[in-house]
Amino acid sequence: MEIKKVVIPCAGLGTRFLPLTKTIPKEMLPLLNKPAIQYIVEEALNSEIDNFFIITGKGKESIADHFDTCEALKLLLQEKNKSHLIINLEKIIKAARFSYIRQCEQLGLGHAISMAQHSIGKEYFAVMLPDDIIISKTPALAQMLRVARQEKACVIAIQEVPVQTVSSYGIISVKKQITPNLFQVGSLVEKPDPKNSPSNLAIIGRYILSSKIFASINEIQNNEGEIQLTDAIAHMIRSGEKVFAYKVQGVRYDIGTPIGWAKAVIGVASQDPEAAPHIEKFISELNTLNSFLYDNSKTIEHS
Ligand code: UTP
Repeated sequence: MEIKKVVIPCAGLGTRFLPLTKTIPKEMLPLLNKPAIQYIVEEALNSEIDNFFIITGKGKESIADHFDTCEALKLLLQEKNKSHLIINLEKIIKAARFSYIRQCEQLGLGHAISMAQHSIGKEYFAVMLPDDIIISKTPALAQMLRVARQEKACVIAIQEVPVQTVSSYGIISVKKQITPNLFQVGSLVEKPDPKNSPSNLAIIGRYILSSKIFASINEIQNNEGEIQLTDAIAHMIRSGEKVFAYKVQGVRYDIGTPIGWAKAVIGVASQDPEAAPHIEKFISELNTLNSFLYDNSKTIEHS
């Protein structure tokens, strides 16, 4: 099973991140010095997927600019002997092929994916949601690809979540448990009430999908509300397609909200050799007498 293409939907309005997202795409929020979208692209490249289809919308031009060459910056850094600062990004730009597809109306994740139908053709392909940053030894997408090739079928990433939070997620019902981490999916439901939820296995932002998903997206289209990818996958299962769910191994940060993003910054920084000692010291001093906040001698006074 050859899977070389990935669709990354970035056209959402990011209302949970307003007012920041009025002018700045949330995909460009930094985790240390790298924008979130670069983590996603690196995860795909490290999983040997190099053909990117990014769904964009109004005001998201900085994503394409980030993955473009800039001769002026290159020369400036060469002159200052600082080329190492962009060497990794230049390697990404060389290794990857980026295409940008504009979604003019924000009609939901399912609709965003359908914008890539003609670019994907009849192949299996990956979908990565840039809100979900997954830090793991083996890239999350590589874990999913292994399962997709083994089962020759669609795979969605899942994570166990506390029952009281299921109403924030798409949730799967299990048809069959294959191994402790692998399940065949019976159905999916978007944001269920905890009382009626079929499980606490929540869908997170990585998918390996068959091109049959496009027919299902078209089938469930109506004139009301957003087109959900979860509903399209449920439709595909009802039409006879086998779908598996895999508990990806790694730490996941949902950076779609300010609190989730703040946690991701701290999590990523505390794994970074240069930043970690500073972050650890800062956290251990929070709310103690040594804290910047409570130590009057460190308080900056303005006259
Ligand atoms: P979300 O449901 O998180 O929506 O989209 P959002 O707009 O990003 O954020 P909020 O909820 O308003 O704060 C899930 C993914 O689907 C993409 C988003 O960019 C995100 O990656 N998406 C969503 C689109 O590309 N187009 C859409 O019409 C909707």
